[in-house]
Amino acid sequence: MTVVINMRDGPDEGKIRIAARFILEGKLVAFPTETVYGLGADALREDAVRRIFEVKGRPPDNPLIVHVASFDDLKKVARDIPPEAKLLARRFWPGPLTLVLPARDEVPRVTTGGLDTVAVRMPAHPIALALIKASTPLAAPSANVSGRPSPTLAEHVADDFYGRIECIIDGGETPIGVESTVIDLSSEEPTVLRPGGLPIEEIERVLGKLEVQVKAKGVARSPGMKYRHYSPNARVVVVEGKGERVREKIRELIEEYRSRGLKVGVMARYRYDADGFFNPGRTTEEVARNLFRGLRELDKLGVDVIIAEGVEEKGLGVAVMNRLRKAAGGRIIRV
Ligand code: TXA
Ligand code: MG
Repeated sequence: MTVVINMRDGPDEGKIRIAARFILEGKLVAFPTETVYGLGADALREDAVRRIFEVKGRPPDNPLIVHVASFDDLKKVARDIPPEAKLLARRFWPGPLTLVLPARDEVPRVTTGGLDTVAVRMPAHPIALALIKASTPLAAPSANVSGRPSPTLAEHVADDFYGRIECIIDGGETPIGVESTVIDLSSEEPTVLRPGGLPIEEIERVLGKLEVQVKAKGVARSPGMKYRHYSPNARVVVVEGKGERVREKIRELIEEYRSRGLKVGVMARYRYDADGFFNPGRTTEEVARNLFRGLRELDKLGVDVIIAEGVEEKGLGVAVMNRLRKAAGGRIIRV
């Protein structure tokens, strides 16, 4: 049984209390954050966290982010907090930035995927903050079945989990649309492990030039990066480049796929004549907000192939291209 709580008008004390009770009973509650919806459970309760992995079908070595609502919460889950972490937290929290820090023993190793580090973030969404304050720090991955595009609407969460989790809080559309930026501060050099909702340029303004290590080479620094990700059922092809050449290439691909009897969806900022079309918007912020929704909606039309137009890799565009490349699993065409 899944209880869906409508909080589109913002946090409501009575309703938050109901959701918090589920959490304190060790149950699963999906909730909106400013990035994407999270699938939350009491981060310090092993049995509850174990269920997150079960319902998502998530590999047990892929650690979860612990969501906190105060600096006191942070000290409950992380230790030896370096000055860089304090600087970044003071500047960017609450917000779409996740810090990887040495974990306290109180954090179950189920939560950290067996690691001695813990990823922590303070979300900027009022419903997320209210829920954490009314319950406890929440372990929460994106609320999608492992490998599927992240959810930016409560409907997406219901598509993946209705009937399998206790509660979904519907807070409307998540404003940023791509997940948080993850930065590792547990070793000598601060390292970006996942580009996300906070542009790397902004972090560099505080810490100076950063190492970016988003590809898994050897032992994965961010275990999540080695798994298939963000994939709709349809095959995704990304076309990168400038202006008219991109448009020509997309038209050419539509014809080619259709001549092979395939149903084609297009996600781009110009209209194309295909079996499905989704316009993610003009600015990079709009594309980020609509990206996962576009992949899910085209999928629902039952297309075999999604041709997606690339964006410039600046600001949020770095996160958008990271997600698109992963969804495409290497099928990138540069023109
Ligand atoms: O915006 C977000 O970050 C969303 C919302 C719900 O907060 N959450 C999210 O969680 O995207 P998830 O589980 O889908 O992605 C967490 C990422 C994974 O790539 C994981 O491997 C990495 O963070 N991660 C978590 N703990 C880590 C750790 N201790 N060391 C290195 N990477 C870690
Ligand atoms: Mg995820």
